Amino acid sequence: MRFVVTAGPTREAIDPVRFISNRSSGKMGYAIAEAALAHGDEVTLISGPASIAPPRGAKFISITTSDELYDAVHRAVRACDVLVMCAAVSDYKPAASAPQKMMKRNAPFALRLIATRDILTSLPREQRRYLVVGFAAETHDLETNARLKLMKKNCDLIIANDVSGKDSGMESDENEVEIFFRNGEMKKISRAPKKNIARELVKIISKMLEKSLTKKS
Ligand code: CTP
Repeated sequence: MRFVVTAGPTREAIDPVRFISNRSSGKMGYAIAEAALAHGDEVTLISGPASIAPPRGAKFISITTSDELYDAVHRAVRACDVLVMCAAVSDYKPAASAPQKMMKRNAPFALRLIATRDILTSLPREQRRYLVVGFAAETHDLETNARLKLMKKNCDLIIANDVSGKDSGMESDENEVEIFFRNGEMKKISRAPKKNIARELVKIISKMLEKSLTKKS
C-alpha cells in the first residue's frame, strides 16, 4: 500500500525572523511513517519543521507553510492508497508578512490574521480512490468534536487525542487515542509509547484498506 503521512507543525511568517506556529514535535506522524515502512508499505512523509531524522526508506518532502503543505498533499494523493493527516496545520496566518524585520516599538500592536485553507476539507468528496485518516487534538468535549470533524472533514476515520494534560499528545513520547469510524464505531488505544500506538494504527488502517479494496474489485 502507498501511504502519504503528514507530520509536524506549519509555520506562517510574520516577518523574516518571526512566525506563528503550533505545538507539535512530529513524533506521532514520524512513528506512523516508520510503522508503515516496517509493515512493508511505501511511504511519502510530508513534514513541517521537526527535529527528528526522516525514517529510512520513506520519500521525504519538507514543507514550511500551510500553503506548501496544501500543494504537497494535493500532489501526493494523486498516487496513494491512504492519506494520514497528522500535521498540526496553522488555522491562521498573518494577512501580510513584512519583507523586512519589524522593529520593536514600545506600544501595543495587533497582528491581523486570516484563515488558512483547510486541507482535509479541500479534498474531493466523491469517488476518492484513497482512504483519509484525520487527527483531532482536543482539550475538551473530545468525542463530540472528533465526530463533528470526522463528518465535516469527510474523513474515513479520525484519531482523537486529549491534549489538555501536560504529558499527553503534543511533544510527548506517549499518547492515548480514541478512533472514531463513520459507521459510529469507536476503538480506544490506551496510553502507550507513540511507536506502539503507530503500529496499532497502521494495522487498523491496513485492515480497512484491504476491506475497501476487496469491495472495489
Ligand atoms: N487540518 C487540515 N487543514 C487545516 C487544519 C487542520 O487539513 N487548515 C487537519 C489536521 O491535519 C487534522 C484535522 O484537520 O487531521 C483536525 O485538526 P484540528 O487542529 O484538530 O482541527 P481544526 O480543523 O484546526 O479545528 P479546531 O482548531 O477548531 O479544533
